[in-house]
Order: sequence, then structure tokens, then C-alpha cells
Amino acid sequence: MAASHSVFLLLGMALCAAVLIQLGLWAAQSLSILSSNRRQFELSRKLMLQQIESIIEQRVAHSDSAAGVVDSAHKQKNSVAEDGSWAGYRSFRVGHVAKETSSVTSLYLVPEDGKQIAQFRPGQHLTLKVPVPGKTKPVVRCYSLSCGSNNNPESGIAGPSYRISVKALVSQTPATEAKPAFVHHGVASTFINQSVCVGDRIEIRAPSGHFWMDEESPMPVVLLAGGIGITPMISMLERIEESGSQRSVILFYGVNNSADHAFGNYLQGIAAKLPNVHVISCYSKPLPNDVAGEQFKVNGFVSPELLKQVLPNNHYQFYMCGPPPFMESLYQGLIDWQVPESRINYEAFGPASIGKKKADRKSDSAIGNDRIDPVSLLRSGKTVLWSADHDSLLELVEANGVFPDSGCRAGSCGSCETGLVSGKVEYAEGQKPDCSPSKCLICIARPDGPVELDL
Ligand code: FES
Repeated sequence: MAASHSVFLLLGMALCAAVLIQLGLWAAQSLSILSSNRRQFELSRKLMLQQIESIIEQRVAHSDSAAGVVDSAHKQKNSVAEDGSWAGYRSFRVGHVAKETSSVTSLYLVPEDGKQIAQFRPGQHLTLKVPVPGKTKPVVRCYSLSCGSNNNPESGIAGPSYRISVKALVSQTPATEAKPAFVHHGVASTFINQSVCVGDRIEIRAPSGHFWMDEESPMPVVLLAGGIGITPMISMLERIEESGSQRSVILFYGVNNSADHAFGNYLQGIAAKLPNVHVISCYSKPLPNDVAGEQFKVNGFVSPELLKQVLPNNHYQFYMCGPPPFMESLYQGLIDWQVPESRINYEAFGPASIGKKKADRKSDSAIGNDRIDPVSLLRSGKTVLWSADHDSLLELVEANGVFPDSGCRAGSCGSCETGLVSGKVEYAEGQKPDCSPSKCLICIARPDGPVELDL
């Protein structure tokens, strides 16, 4: 019995030992598995973290690069040189609006980026994209600068700004399908006079234009302004004052009467301040209350006869800007008075362009006006025929339902620049287009044989 107890005891002990060993092995195995799982878990965690880091790095890199691209595009779009000049269009805000007369409004334009703005030569203009409501694209127009950056204390603007002064023009002809309103004169100027407010944004090209006063020349100056043609003359007078120039300056300024007499106070003030500046205001239709000797000096037009009466001789640099009859009569009068063409400077905007241009074109018909040349507009899929009925390629394509950008319509602003895919164009004598040979300014270009345009 004791022996069987011992056997049972030994067997029990062996069984327990076996169970314990099994348990130990199982525990060791489990620990090993756990340890292996933990390693795998750690490995997975590390891998996951690496992937997250990698994703984050990629995202950061991508976002940096995207920001870089945007920044670079932004910089490119709004690239402003140290001197304030820029290429293409730049955003400005209307900082102040001032009524000069019932139909003339001045806009003070402040750069949206707050940076410096380009200096300009007195007489140059700005090209604006005017956001006229209801138009599928902004209306491009050119307006002479009437004041520079640091001379606008009355505007309340502390930083740099430009001033343009715009007369509301009334279009003489209604818009038609062939010639819609955005190519009509008066659309933008009326909008500016009636609707533009402080804070409105306008895209602007840097000051440009070939009409400017030669500040190096010692010659005395005659300024001839008709109506709103006074604006570039204001810039010129301002520059004379700023520079302290002693050159003699005589301004002949023709308007209907006191209702149209913009900048009268400024002109009186500068003539009183500067002994070398004289202002001769001419009213062609004085109002009953307009007093000769006070508001105006001459009852009548600015005419070649008046110039000969007032000026001792013709040894002046002449600068003129005004409506077509004004420009044409004075230009011809000066030529007849033996003034060399090199001393007659004029601003030419669209319909106010001087008649000489057309006369010259008619006279050189041998070059191309009498020919019928095909003009292919590649992007529009049209081929139209050039004939002497048109004054320029711009007029031709508009008459055929294609309306490219245009501003000055006189070769000054560059907004109508168009790719010349094949063929040749020519320009009137004395006109030097400011573009590469593979492009042309269609507002002043005529075909010299068949041409293909990127339009
Ligand atoms: S419209 Fe200005 S250059 Fe042609």
C-alpha cells in the first residue's frame, strides 16, 4: 500500500513536473511570440512613422514648391523693379475721386502692392483695363497722366499715386452688331465719370507714349491744349515747376466756356507763381457770366492767327493735344508758318489722331492702299480682304466681327500687338512701331501683300 502510494506519488509528481514543463514551454513560447509580435509591432510602427514622415515631407516639399510656383507667378505678374517700373498690367486701387468739371473726373490711382511706382516723362499716358459692367472683357483705354506721384496733397493720399483726368465722351454713333459698344468711344469715359468709386480696382500698364516734353532742350515751349487735351500739359507745367526750369512756357488753352474750364485754379496759381509761365485761356462760347480778363483772356478759338499775334516768332518747341479739328488746323497752321516738323509734337489718341496721318496714307497708295490683299485671321478661321476703305488692320478686322484688345488706336500703348505669322505690314511715314518683327501693331499697320495674323 505504502509502495503503491509512493508509486502514485511519484507518478503524480512526474505528471505535475511534465505539466509544469509543458506550462513553462508554453509560457516561453508565448513570451517568444509576444516578443516577436512586439518586435513586429515596433517595426510596423517605425515603418508607419517613416511613411508618415515621408508623406509629411513630400507634402511640405510639394506645398513649398507649390507656394514657390504661386509666389514666382505672383512675382512674375506683379514684378516691380526697384525704380517702380513693371511689365504688363499691375493692380491699382482708386484712392480718391475728384470732379474737375461736370464732365471731367480725376482718378487718383494707388498701387495695390504698396510698392514704388514708375516715374514718367511729362506728357505720357497710362493704359487701363476699365472694368465696365456688362462687358465680357475689360475695356482698354489710354489716358494722359495729369499729375505725378507726390503732388496730390488734396487727395489725402500719403504714398505714391498717379492721377488721370477723364472727360465723359458721348459717342456720336450707336453701337451695332458690327461695331459693339466696347469699341465705341465714350463707354469707358462715361463709366469713369459716373460709376467709379474709391476702392475700385483697375489694372494698369506702366506709363508710356511718345508724346513728352524734352526736358533737356533749352528752347522756349508753346503748349496748345484743346478741351481735355489739357491733361498732359498739366504734367508738363508741373515738371517745369518741380525742376525749377527757367524756360519760357506759354500755354494756349481752348474750351467752350467756364463750364468746361478744367484746372482753372491750378493754372491761375502756377502763372502767378512762376514768371516764366503764361496762360492764355480762350473761350469760344463764353457764358453770360464769363468775364473776359478774369476767367478767360481771348474770346475765340486757339488758332494759327492767334499764335502769330501773340508769339514774337516761331522759334519754339510746340506740344499740342486736343480734338481732331483743333489738331488739324493748328498742325497745318504751324507747317504753313514754316515751323519744322521736328518741333511740332502731338498726342494722337484714336479719333483725335491728327489728319496728317490719313493724308499721308492716301498719298502713298502705291505701297498698298489700292491693292486688294487677303488677310487671314488664323485663330478666328476667317480670311478678309484689305481695301483702301480701311485705315488700319484693326479697323478691317473689327469690321469683320473680330475685336482684339486695343487702347490708344494710334500706335502708342502696345495693347493691339498681334503676331504676324506670315507676310509683311507697313506703317505710315514717321511711325515707328515698338514691337518685334514677328508682331505688328494692327491699329496703325496695313498689309503689304497677303498676310496671316494670329487673331
Ligand atoms: S491700340 Fe495702342 S498701340 Fe494699337
